[in-house]
Formats: sequence, C-alpha cells, structure tokens
Amino acid sequence: MRVVILGSGRGSNAEAILQAQCDHRLGSAQVVKLFSDQPAAGLLALGARFGVETAFIDPAPFKTKLEGPGEDRFIEAIQATGADLVVLAGFMRVLKPKFLSTFAGKMINLHPSLLPSFPGLDGIGQAFRRGVKVTGCTVHYVTQEVDGGPILDQAAVRVEPGETIETLADKVHAAEHDLLPAVIARLSAQSKI
Ligand code: GAR
Repeated sequence: MRVVILGSGRGSNAEAILQAQCDHRLGSAQVVKLFSDQPAAGLLALGARFGVETAFIDPAPFKTKLEGPGEDRFIEAIQATGADLVVLAGFMRVLKPKFLSTFAGKMINLHPSLLPSFPGLDGIGQAFRRGVKVTGCTVHYVTQEVDGGPILDQAAVRVEPGETIETLADKVHAAEHDLLPAVIARLSAQSKI
C-alpha cells in the first residue's frame, strides 16, 4: 500500500508514521512521499532523515483553502506517486469537492478530539475550554463533510485535575503518534485500500 502524507506543520505525526515503518510496525504500508503547502514545514525536513522524497507544492492562489490551480497541482503530484492511501496529518487547508472526490475512499484524516465533538480548528483548545474530562484523537475517512467521515479509530485521553492546555496537548499528541500508524497498519493488513 503506497502512502503519501500531507501536512502543514511540524510533522510529528508524519515522523511517528515513518518511525513505525522503520520499526516494521506499518504492515505492508510504505510511505512514498511527503507533501506540504508550507515551504518551511518541519515535515519537509523528515525526508532526508528517513530517506523519503518530499516536496513543497504551491497552494496558491488561496490562503486557507485548496481550490483552483493549487488544488490541481496537489492532485497531479499525488496521482503521480501512484498512492493508494492519502494521509492528512495536520494538513491545515479547507478541501474542496474536486480534491475530495478525486481521493474519495482512500484519504484519511487525523483530528485532535473525539469526533463528532469539537470539529474544526483547535480541537484540543475547544475541549479544554469546554471542561470535558475525557478527550482524545480520531482517525476518519475524509468525506465532503468537514471532520465528518466514517470513524476508523479513536484514542481517549483523560483530562486530569490541574491539567493545562500544554500538558493536555502533549498527551493528545502522544496518543495520536500511536493511533495513526496503527490505523495505517490495519488498513494495509485489511487491504481495504
Ligand atoms: C495534529 O495534532 C493533528 O491532529 C492536527 O494537527 C496536528 C499536526 O501536528 N490536525 C488538525 O487539527 C486537523 N483539523 P504535526 O504536524 O506535529 O503532525
């Protein structure tokens, strides 16, 4: 199963996936390329460390959504890899119907809350401010509904007394780093994609 990872930020989840691959915990999945819409994304620096190709793709002309020429560039670049699975690991752009339909059924997203609670931006902060006692992370198929596709798996994190948003974020990220590689390994074993 050929996997491409899209991310906009530090890339800790891409790193967890690549580390799982090194440790033979990724089943038959193989990461073939990392893409970012941000030229300075930490994710792009992982390529040299793990021996995987990386590329910045210009998302222009829009600032927060992927549509038009930028969307076409992403679609072409992903299709050129022969990817079986597209993993959104902190890819912070609103996706539009053309991109979504091109990769329907073979694109998954990681979200830092127990969906359907706290979709959208800052899932960790939303949960913390709401005062929930349990939050976590979710991996789901990407559909037209933002953060609304079928859930593949979740991991729960308890919010302890005295927790700060920083300590909670660390715990959610640690849970993500276990969950996302495990889901990818399971998908590769099930040959669902
Ligand atoms: C992760 O916490 C992921 O759940 C979140 O971005 C972070 C990326 O971190 N994604 C979303 O909020 C999507 N709505 P990373 O760059 O260190 O992997």
